[in-house]
Order: sequence, then structure tokens, then C-alpha cells
Amino acid sequence: MCRSRCRCSGLWALRDVAGLTSTKFGCGMAQCGACTVHLDDEAVRSCVTPVAQAQGREITTLEAIGEDEIGSRVQQAWLDLGVAQCGYCQGGQIMSATALLKEAPRHPWAASASRACRR
Ligand code: FES
Repeated sequence: MCRSRCRCSGLWALRDVAGLTSTKFGCGMAQCGACTVHLDDEAVRSCVTPVAQAQGREITTLEAIGEDEIGSRVQQAWLDLGVAQCGYCQGGQIMSATALLKEAPRHPWAASASRACRR
């Protein structure tokens, strides 16, 4: 059992305790995004987010993103455009895209400036 004050990452609490397995482990270093979830609509990398940081905040995973109007539209766009390849990181990408559109629904490129590729 995982207690809210434990130091384990939210990723393992979601997967192993809550059984919400849409959140994937990729790099474990906040780099790949496969583990992305929302804390109060903010996209976070759950692999490096301690459980204690989520205390008192609303956690949304891919399992429930379709209940959100914007999340539902993003999921439908993923299906319509056949985005998924192997599919492993698609959940994290949907979570990131939804958070971005919620942050700046009319001009998402403005919000993305701080998330630009660093290559
Ligand atoms: S597992 Fe890669 S960012 Fe968390």
C-alpha cells in the first residue's frame, strides 16, 4: 500500500496501487513523457513526481481524459488522424496535448514556446 506521504513516485502509485495502467514507464527521468498525467490540469511527469506532491490535488490519467471536453476532442483527433504508431507513449502525448490546449485554447503555440524542442 502507498500512503500519501510516501516518497515513491506517482507513476508507481497509479500503476501498482490504483491499477491505472495507461500511465507508462519509459525513461524514468522526466524526458520521454510516457508517464504524463495531470495535476489540477497541469501536465506533470509522474515518474519524478512524489506521491506527496499530489496530495489534495486532482489527478487525471488517460483513463478519464475522455470525460474532459478538450481531452475527448484530442483523443478523437488521435483516432481520426491515425496518430498512434507503437502506441506506448501515445497516452502521455494525449495528456500533454490536452494540457497545452487547456492552457492556451486559442493560441496553443504561445503556450508551447516554453516547451519547444531543445535540439
Ligand atoms: S517515464 Fe519518461 S518522462 Fe516519465
